[in-house]
Amino acid sequence: MPTIARRLRRRRQTPAIRAMLRETRLTPSDFIYPIFVADAPKDAGPVSSMPGVVRYDVDRLEGLVERIQSARIPAVMLFGIPAKKDAEGTQAWAEDGVVSRALRRLKSLAPRLTLIADVCLCEYTSHGHCGHVHGERIENDSTLDALQRASITYAAAGADIVAPSGMMDGMVAAIRAALDENKHVDTGILSYSVKYASSFYGPFRDAADCAPQFGDRRSHQMDPANAREALAEAEQDITEGADAIMVKPALSYLDVIARLRRNFESTPIAAYQVSGEYSMIKAAAASGWIDEKNVALESLLSIKRAGADTIITYYALEAAKWLAEGLANDEY
Ligand code: PBG
Repeated sequence: MPTIARRLRRRRQTPAIRAMLRETRLTPSDFIYPIFVADAPKDAGPVSSMPGVVRYDVDRLEGLVERIQSARIPAVMLFGIPAKKDAEGTQAWAEDGVVSRALRRLKSLAPRLTLIADVCLCEYTSHGHCGHVHGERIENDSTLDALQRASITYAAAGADIVAPSGMMDGMVAAIRAALDENKHVDTGILSYSVKYASSFYGPFRDAADCAPQFGDRRSHQMDPANAREALAEAEQDITEGADAIMVKPALSYLDVIARLRRNFESTPIAAYQVSGEYSMIKAAAASGWIDEKNVALESLLSIKRAGADTIITYYALEAAKWLAEGLANDEY
């Protein structure tokens, strides 16, 4: 008989011991559910590149809200599909714009649900870029004005948190100042601090109809090759007053999440499991190649284990259901 001093398998012997020693646990309170709201009823309906994801008619959110609340999901993040677009993206801050209408509706339906509004221009501009365009260039500073206006409008309509996703320099400071000047001191900022120029956003651009009409987003979103630069982005946003920061996408950037976790221990970190990550699991599962539930939950668990405090995921509703069933069926 060999003498093996450390038998690590002892810790895995029974379901009860495994449950007792588990380091990371998912709960529905880990999730933020993204919602697409359409201004024109004709734009509502299923998103073909994202099975299970629907663009909601802004006047028909009751059923969805009930499902979110009974799943115990604490927050939603809103994306708008406006009926009309223009070069400036004016519908992003119009008072009767689609996101503002949705915010007012959701606030009255579910006063305790946390409402997060994505703040970016790409869904609202005719050219599909995240900022004002001059020639081929995405302008930084004139875009900040637009982001300020949109943030104030969303805060007034009921957003608890605004989430600027355009990767413009100075966006957090500009938005914080504008919110404070307008007495929205309690409206938080969740900044998409570390957003990569990723090909995993493909299905979202179908869902939100926001693919750039020319060029790409590499002059403002980060190069997937860079991780140290992520520290600079996070530090900038924290210094400018971000209440929480985000890494996006999630699964291919777990190293970045872990690194931010170590470097910024006191700032909450969100991670966005993006459309491509979701649709890949859906597609492989539909082909019978993987077990959807187990792969989706493993993927979400790994994002939390890497250090995310909250996960924006299209799987939120399904995952909450699976987790509840799992608890009920635990074998010990
Ligand atoms: C920009 C925005 C995008 C996503 C969230 N906010 C698209 C982009 O940067 O091109 C992508 C989310 C996803 O892929 O699920 N408003």
